[in-house]
Amino acid sequence: MPRHLLNPMDFSVEELDKLMDLAGDIERNPDKYAHACDRKILATCFYEPSTRTRLSFESAMYHLGGHVLGFSSANSSSAAKGESVSDTIRMIGCYADICAMRHPKEGAPLVASEKAEIPVINAGDGGHQHPTQTLTDLLTIRSTKGHLDHQTIGLCGDLKFGRTVHSLIEALSRYEGMHFVLISPPELRVPEYITDLLKEKNIPFEEVISLDEAMPQLDILYMTRVQRERFFNEEDYIRMKDFYILNNDKMALAKEDMIVMHPLPRVNEIALEVDSDPRALYFKQAQYGMYIRMALILTLLEVEV
Ligand code: CP
Repeated sequence: MPRHLLNPMDFSVEELDKLMDLAGDIERNPDKYAHACDRKILATCFYEPSTRTRLSFESAMYHLGGHVLGFSSANSSSAAKGESVSDTIRMIGCYADICAMRHPKEGAPLVASEKAEIPVINAGDGGHQHPTQTLTDLLTIRSTKGHLDHQTIGLCGDLKFGRTVHSLIEALSRYEGMHFVLISPPELRVPEYITDLLKEKNIPFEEVISLDEAMPQLDILYMTRVQRERFFNEEDYIRMKDFYILNNDKMALAKEDMIVMHPLPRVNEIALEVDSDPRALYFKQAQYGMYIRMALILTLLEVEV
């Protein structure tokens, strides 16, 4: 049976370490991996818009010497004619060796994996999970801070619909000495299953509204955009969308070695003036995404270099 990545918890902490070590080796020695996936094909099946995830997957496969096919919207596939995800993945298995799938419905990549004869990677399913963003985030933190444990991390913005937040909290809950500061308006608090997980594991967390008050204690600030596409009505979105705007005045409240992360795309929640602050890591973070996806493709295809 092929191995899939549907949830960040599908990999043990030891496996994640190996994956990040491999990503680091790829970054340092790209030529060594330039033909690792010769004649292999990656399918990117994206039923929802994407810039970073789809293009970094495609770039990852090209850098490994492989090929890419796929679609970038449901409308340009036979989903528009009513084809199911289960039937689609059977077809993809005839044409490709591995598939990265994004879908607006939670659990769609899981459904695909149950019928798939090739590895399926969840590239984001609704407001649920985004495991390869989490791999990217973990690599960013480890590469910058030197370790993943003993961090006070503030997650700010749309914690209800932000799937990257859900995946990252689950993944980081396995490391020692973590402290989560969940910063959101009351309407956009993190789902209860996430706070239940933290309670079960006796991991300290606070749910707060004020970003200013939270800033001084943070080692990492993980900003998120308000997820317009998951709101039921436009009025609520407009009321919430500018609730948090990180600017230089707020950055002045933070530790000198705090890092700012964001899965991107950014809308208005980080002022452009913050981009030149050396603590702003979000563009570098997106670059790490390609290396970790190269490592993931090699691992799921069981390619040894
Ligand atoms: N971080 C992320 O998932 O970005 P895209 O939606 O552009 O893929």
